[in-house]
Amino acid sequence: MTEVRFTVNGTAQCVAVEPRLTLADMLREECGLTGTHLGCEHGVCGACTVLMDGLPVRACLVFGVQAEGADIRTVEGLAAADGTLNVLQHAFQAQHGLQCGFCTPGFLMLATWLLEQKEGVDEARLREVLASNLCRCTGYQNILAAVRVAAQEMGVWREG
Ligand code: FES
Ligand code: FES
Repeated sequence: MTEVRFTVNGTAQCVAVEPRLTLADMLREECGLTGTHLGCEHGVCGACTVLMDGLPVRACLVFGVQAEGADIRTVEGLAAADGTLNVLQHAFQAQHGLQCGFCTPGFLMLATWLLEQKEGVDEARLREVLASNLCRCTGYQNILAAVRVAAQEMGVWREG
């Protein structure tokens, strides 16, 4: 077992894991953060996307021990402490971007990263980035609409 010290959603964590354990499984099994979903476990679907030191990563392709000293953000960190949804989460709800919801955490974290980029987002960039994640319910139009509306409400939307 190897001890790993890192931060998740602003909270310091210290867990002992097998070196072969993925970051996704470490978050789910050792931290109880089951909002990070596993679909393909091969880096294809993006359901497991979390932010690691500010960048989106496929948590199924990262070993937990690689998170040593890292700052991790997961879907559990998006809402306020009292459960109030943030702008992006609310847009997913309002624009019907949720179907079964399995892919949603990965899309939310990918979109969180996109919306935090200082250059803003236009339609081409929106489609380019979101194309990396798969939705088995094929609700892509509503997911695109949700992120577009959130970008507009956050003042980072650029007409392309
Ligand atoms: S579960 Fe990680 S990319 Fe599909
Ligand atoms: S909402 Fe069901 S997989 Fe995307």
